[in-house]
Amino acid sequence: MLFKKENNAPRNVPGHIAIIMDGNGRWAKNKGMPRSFGHTAGAKKFKEIARYCNKIGVKYLTVYAFSTENWKRPKEEIDGIMNLLRDYLLDTANFKGENVRLRFIGDRESLPQDIRLLMENGERESEGATGMTAILALNYGGRDEITKAVRSIVANGVEAEKIDEALISSYLYTADIPDPDLIIRPSGEYRLSNFLTWQSAYSEFYFDNVLWPDFSIKDLEKAIDEYNRRNRRFGGV
Ligand code: FPP
Repeated sequence: MLFKKENNAPRNVPGHIAIIMDGNGRWAKNKGMPRSFGHTAGAKKFKEIARYCNKIGVKYLTVYAFSTENWKRPKEEIDGIMNLLRDYLLDTANFKGENVRLRFIGDRESLPQDIRLLMENGERESEGATGMTAILALNYGGRDEITKAVRSIVANGVEAEKIDEALISSYLYTADIPDPDLIIRPSGEYRLSNFLTWQSAYSEFYFDNVLWPDFSIKDLEKAIDEYNRRNRRFGGV
């Protein structure tokens, strides 16, 4: 999609942006505050960035809210993140009022029952939204997703010759979601951390030293500008 900036230069807004919301803990520590303070700021930042992405015509925004590995964290921190998710899902204005469609990827089974119900409710209530789709990766792990897909393929008795990339894609949480065009990781870490392992094969990566709670609209704009300078060839010339 074309979007005119102040200088009227047309540019391409990525159809699907994915973000690893990293650095909340360090941000809080720098301020002498508990880690949960950083996650609260991180959740607030997510809302700000999501609203802006919707405004500029991003079609899909996927954020890594809780990984399959995050259960290793102290219970208090996990409970804090779950409470932030509760707050977000209870406030339907976050998606209904914004015309945003809400989706989730990840293994729902080990999530608290009330959150699972809130997730289903959010998906149902926002189903008809015509704006951006916000995808929250919750108890998500790329390898876990692929492992589950392989299990289902085998359980369904699919013949080996019928297994191709399209079939595997159709067994993933993201079956009907296009692959991310741009993956952003703030906080100075340069890895994917089990996020969208299959889907990121041809994504552009953008790393930034800013910690997630400090990540601004300006920083997002810088990432989109950089994306516009990349030459995506998808293996071609
Ligand atoms: C990574 O930073 C962040 C997380 C593991 C949790 C992210 C969750 C939220 C921002 C809240 C989700 C809620 C909504 C409504 C989207 P880190 O804790 O690993 O930071 P560090 O690397 O500085 O320790």
